[in-house]
Amino acid sequence: MRHFLEIDDLDAVELAEVLDLATLEGPPKVLAGRGVSLLFEKPSARTRHSSEMAVVQLGGHPVYFAGSEVGLDVRESVEDVTRTLAQYHAVLGARVFDHGVVERMAAVGVAPVVNLLSDRAHPCQALADLLTIRQSLGGLEGRTVAYVGDANNVARSLAIAAARSGMALRVASPEGYGFEPADLARLDATGARPELLEDPDRAVAGADVVYTDTWVSMGQEEQTAVRRELFEPYRIDGARLAKAAPGAIFLHCLPAHRGDEVTDDVMDGAASRVWPQARNRMHAARGLLLFLLADHGGRRD
Ligand code: CP
Ligand code: NVA
Repeated sequence: MRHFLEIDDLDAVELAEVLDLATLEGPPKVLAGRGVSLLFEKPSARTRHSSEMAVVQLGGHPVYFAGSEVGLDVRESVEDVTRTLAQYHAVLGARVFDHGVVERMAAVGVAPVVNLLSDRAHPCQALADLLTIRQSLGGLEGRTVAYVGDANNVARSLAIAAARSGMALRVASPEGYGFEPADLARLDATGARPELLEDPDRAVAGADVVYTDTWVSMGQEEQTAVRRELFEPYRIDGARLAKAAPGAIFLHCLPAHRGDEVTDDVMDGAASRVWPQARNRMHAARGLLLFLLADHGGRRD
C-alpha cells in the first residue's frame, strides 16, 4: 500500500509517472462506485475543490468533512477514525495541523493516505507546481527556482520536488525564518540541498521560476504583526521579478495576500502562472489517485 505524505514517498521515476498520469487524456474510471474521504482541519479552496473534482473525473464520490465533525482524538482516536473511513473509501485524504496525524493514519495501513497539507508538508501542491513549470518552460531538468519567503510546508515539499526533478532551488528568507537544521537534515536525506540566502534579489537573479507563499501560514495567525514587519523586504514586486531570467514565470500556491508577499502587477502580470497552477492542482490530484490506485494496494472492494 502506498501513501503520499511527502514528495519523497515517490522516487524520481514515480514522480515523473504521476506527472504523466496527470495529463492522461480520458483517464480510466478507477474510482467507479468508490469513495474518497477528504478530512479538513483547516480551511481550503483549491485543495478541496481540486480533490473533489479529481475524484469525480475518475468516477468516484468524494466525501468532505471538517475535523471538528469527527473530533480527532476527542470523540474517537485518529486510528479508529481511519479504520472507520477505510470501510467506505478507497483513499483517505487529510489536511491537518500536526503532520503526526497523517503519519498515524498511514501507520494503520488500511487505505492509502494522502497529505492534503500539514504543518510540515504540502506535497499535492508541489505536484501541481512541477506540472505548471513543465508546461510553461517545456521541462524541469536544469531549471532554477527561486523561493522567496517563509521556509514553510510549501517550501519543504517544493525543495524535495525540485531536487527529484533535476532543478536547482534557491531559498531566500529573513534570519530565523529559513529552514531549520532538522529541516535541512531531512531534506539532505532526500537529496535536496537548496541554496540558502537572505538576499531576495540574489535568489531571484537569473531564476527561471520565482515562487512565494504567505508570510503567515494557517495556525500562525498570532505572529502576523511580527512576520509582516520582518518579511516586508521579501515582497515580490515588478522590479524584483524583472531580475529573473527572460521568460521567467511567477508561481504562488495561493491564497495570495496582495500587497504583502506579492503585488498586483506581479499576480496579474504576463509572467504569472498562478491560475494554471491552481487548475493543475486538479490534474495533479487525478494523476496521484491513478498512481495510488494502480497496482500499489488501493482497495477495490
Ligand atoms: N494552495 C492551497 O492549498 O490552497 P487552499 O488552502 O485553498 O486549499
Ligand atoms: N503555507 C500556507 C499554504 C496554504 C496553501 C499554509 O500552510 O497556510
